[in-house]
Amino acid sequence: MGKFPKNFYWGGATAANQFEGGWDADGKGISVADCCTRGDVGTPRMVTYKTKDGQILAKEMFGLTVEDEVEFGCFEGYDYPTHRAVDFYHHYKEDIALLAELGIKMFRFSINWTRIFPTGIEDVPNEAGLIFYDNVLTELEKYQIEPLVTLQHFEMPVGLVNKWGGWKDGRTIKAFEKYTRTVGERYKGRIKYWITINELNGIESGPWGSAGLATMDEQVIAIAAKHQFLASASAVQILHEIDSSNQIGNMMAFGLGYPNTSNPNDVLQTWRKFNDSYFPSDVQVRGYYPSYKLKEYERKGINIALTEKECQLLNKGTVDFVTFSYYMSNNVSADPNVIEDSKGNFMGGVKNPYLKASDWGWQIDPIGLRVALNYVYDRYQLPIMIVENGLGALDEVEEDGRIYDPYRIDYLRSHIQEMAKAIYEDGVDLIGYMAWGCIDIIAASTGEMAKRYGFIYVDFQDDGGGNGERFRKESFSWYQNVIRSNGEEV
Ligand code: BG6
Repeated sequence: MGKFPKNFYWGGATAANQFEGGWDADGKGISVADCCTRGDVGTPRMVTYKTKDGQILAKEMFGLTVEDEVEFGCFEGYDYPTHRAVDFYHHYKEDIALLAELGIKMFRFSINWTRIFPTGIEDVPNEAGLIFYDNVLTELEKYQIEPLVTLQHFEMPVGLVNKWGGWKDGRTIKAFEKYTRTVGERYKGRIKYWITINELNGIESGPWGSAGLATMDEQVIAIAAKHQFLASASAVQILHEIDSSNQIGNMMAFGLGYPNTSNPNDVLQTWRKFNDSYFPSDVQVRGYYPSYKLKEYERKGINIALTEKECQLLNKGTVDFVTFSYYMSNNVSADPNVIEDSKGNFMGGVKNPYLKASDWGWQIDPIGLRVALNYVYDRYQLPIMIVENGLGALDEVEEDGRIYDPYRIDYLRSHIQEMAKAIYEDGVDLIGYMAWGCIDIIAASTGEMAKRYGFIYVDFQDDGGGNGERFRKESFSWYQNVIRSNGEEV
């Protein structure tokens, strides 16, 4: 196998809400993720809220629809997995030391917006929250690990939801700009690589986590998405203005689809499905809405009332590099009688008889990663980072205290091999690879601890048990060697 580029960013990735815990520590406010209960493969996560007449209720996170005026929040008697997560808040020194031992060159994490502006509305940031990330950066610098920071990863302040209804209100753009400027100035020279908003294409299927929306109304979602594009474009400009060497990326969940048959209707439907992935990136990379989306809005009677000024902002705030998450692929069928029984993050689909699936029903498709890389590079011609990839699996601790996870090694190895081919055989400008949940974290879709992605096991269990101790899994030394050999030995 050819060597990876010399300064390739081998890395690991996390998100604050799934990783940090310390949900109310040192002045932190409540985020939309903090109001979501724990689920599992067959039990949905719920979002909790108080009605006007004081009733406490919970409704499913995916597809959340709450008509009345309510107050979202956390209440007694519910199990909220983000509250403890894996307690990086109190373990950051030890965790970063382990990541340094693993050898990673880049660490993706998100700043928890609610640590900095607890409700999103304050004029003055919470100093204790800023100090926490000062400390995290100091540890990373100690080991020369480059940070890659996401500004919003399913963590908008619930204060903005209760006051304005989340991203559906244009004032949220100002709140995001204030937050971006605050962290941009504070960490100037310490953070160079930024991602504005995680998986912006998730807004249509998971509007609660992505945008604090308690509705599936397509008009509202389209407006909220526009506000996120404007905020993202504005963040690009703010960060460039603070430091012209800052590099800012978009982020999309790449939903790779194959036509279920060679019926042209399936091919057409697959193209449509791809556009669901591409749509936000098209806006963020090219600086304008793609025609297929504007036509779709027109057909559906959705009016996003795009002004000239907004078009100019989108145009000026295009990103410097492209990032995406990739976990699985699915087949796509135009036939309503074909059952969609295959799962994934946000997007499910039809099962592919050529692929095996994880315990959570996500199909494993390493060649699909090479295909995805080529599609994205062909389309945008910008440097690419894969900022999430990995296998969520049940890990067992053996009697000798060790964790053998050959299934994870197989998954990662096969994906890294395809990445290498994309670089050396196809010429894709891939500059980094972040293995998702490099330390075990809670799952976003189910809130489970049992669905583990890490090289480092964290002894916390879904029933509240465990003491948070960290252990190296078998995959730890494997990835260490991949990095040490710059991808030569996989
Ligand atoms: C991505 C999200 O969609 O999928 C992550 O950006 C998430 O936050 C990841 O963790 C994997 O999904 P899950 O549900 O297995 O955690």
